[in-house]
Amino acid sequence: MSRPFPSLTGITSAALLALAVALPSYADDTATIDPTVAQATRGIAADLVNQLGQRLKAALSADGPVAAVSVCKEAAPSIARGLSAQHGAQVTRVGTRVRNPNMGVPNGWQKEALAEFEARLEKGDKPGDLEYWKVVERSDGQRELRYAKAIVTQQLCVTCHGKPEDIPAPLMEKIRAEYPADQATGYSVGKLRGAVVVTRPM
Ligand code: HEC
Repeated sequence: MSRPFPSLTGITSAALLALAVALPSYADDTATIDPTVAQATRGIAADLVNQLGQRLKAALSADGPVAAVSVCKEAAPSIARGLSAQHGAQVTRVGTRVRNPNMGVPNGWQKEALAEFEARLEKGDKPGDLEYWKVVERSDGQRELRYAKAIVTQQLCVTCHGKPEDIPAPLMEKIRAEYPADQATGYSVGKLRGAVVVTRPM
């Protein structure tokens, strides 16, 4: 963790020290988070995963993977925007490697969460248990809740995120055409694909 508090530039070192003491550097802050807020936050992340999963599965079975790429391209950002507006939060997905560079690139704390998830997966933690919580005070004094939930690669995902040589040529062409800078291939089942991330004012 080379930059533990990337968003805290501008606050006094005393405040930073107080925060550093209040927050364990291992980013599990669940103790300081109201259980109702924690459950609601988990719910927002689960909503994104479920809504997208439904759209993806429907598109795959109705029209096949090539057409499903277009559905993902349109549905992923619009579902994320809808949930963000509905909950007064920022909700999105980020990747350890990224297909959509406008949405999927992790920021400082999100990279930290992904690194922690990788380490915990390697240690044998269950994918479903991988969550990250942190409360920080922004420079404007507003407290902010940061939550990440790991997304681990399943069989279904390998269709479009597996090794390029395993992806059928027409599908690979479609992905390259829509996402010329795509880096989100080469994943196998069980590997960390990314995270759903939620940022909300407290
Ligand atoms: C039909 C092809 C397809 C399948 C199957 C698919 N994805 Fe994707 N995935 C995409 C596309 C296209 C994007 C870019 C969406 C966008 O524009 O936001 C994407 C983006 C993502 C992102 C956001 C980060 C990034 O790289 O931009 C994550 C995380 C992700 N996929 C995870 C998964 C997981 C987990 C599964 C399996 C449950 C899965 N995908 C299955 C096509 C697919």
